Amino acid sequence: MSEPALHIRDLTKAYREPEGGTFLALDIPTLDVAHGEALALRGESGSGKTTLLNIIAGILPADGGVIEVAGERMTGRSETARDRVRAQHIGYLFQTFNLLPGLTALENVQLGMSFRPRKGEAPRKAAREALDRVGLSDRRMHKPAQLSVGQQQRVAIARALAGHPTLVLADEPTSNLDAARAIQCMDLLMEFALESQAALLVVTHDETQVARFERVETLRTPEGSPA
Ligand SMILES: Nc1ncnc2c1ncn2[C@@H]1O[C@H](COP(=O)(O)OP(=O)(O)OP(=O)(O)O)[C@@H](O)[C@H]1O
Ligand SMILES: [Mg+2]
Repeated sequence: MSEPALHIRDLTKAYREPEGGTFLALDIPTLDVAHGEALALRGESGSGKTTLLNIIAGILPADGGVIEVAGERMTGRSETARDRVRAQHIGYLFQTFNLLPGLTALENVQLGMSFRPRKGEAPRKAAREALDRVGLSDRRMHKPAQLSVGQQQRVAIARALAGHPTLVLADEPTSNLDAARAIQCMDLLMEFALESQAALLVVTHDETQVARFERVETLRTPEGSPA
């Protein structure tokens, strides 16, 4: 594991403006995250944090530059290839959880691993263990609507981490939670990531949470963009 968990060089992303023209949303010369490292990323609204996570995860293509996750190239590749790298190496905790309403907690967690080509690991067993790990062993068969907000967040954490990803991305994971649950959520995320030796990249506005991170970076709106 000589390559970092995440390696970024000269990354750029522009969006097409609804009224024509383009808008430079990201311009990042360099950002590396080591295996097992925990990094908090802050930046004002519109500075491109969600855009960055979506590009790292391969959900959006970059315009220029290089991203490697665990040494695997994410940029300049087809959507299928990016999906494969994401499935193999990335756990993504979305701000709005993105749990599928028709599936149980267990099925939602299992879904996080169904594209993961990991040998010798039964997805259902790993999903059950991840739900145990977040304290939801008695809520496996509940659907999202039958769970509290804090419980839904824990299902989402279990889904992001059940497959032992190399890199966990979390987009403002505590912004929908009250202070006590925010601390609980971040505790869980950090402990779980530590156990899996996953690198953790957390976007957060919450200064209480930022203070817990060994490393903090600030994303700036690129020069020349009107924001
Ligand atoms: N699909 C899109 N088309 C055009 N512009 C977009 C698109 N998505 C995002 N943008 C613009 O790109 C910029 C960065 O958006 P992004 O969502 O990444 O910001 P953010 O840092 O996550 O903000 P917040 O803290 O409010 O979540 C914003 O100015 C936004 O208006
Ligand atoms: Mg955002």
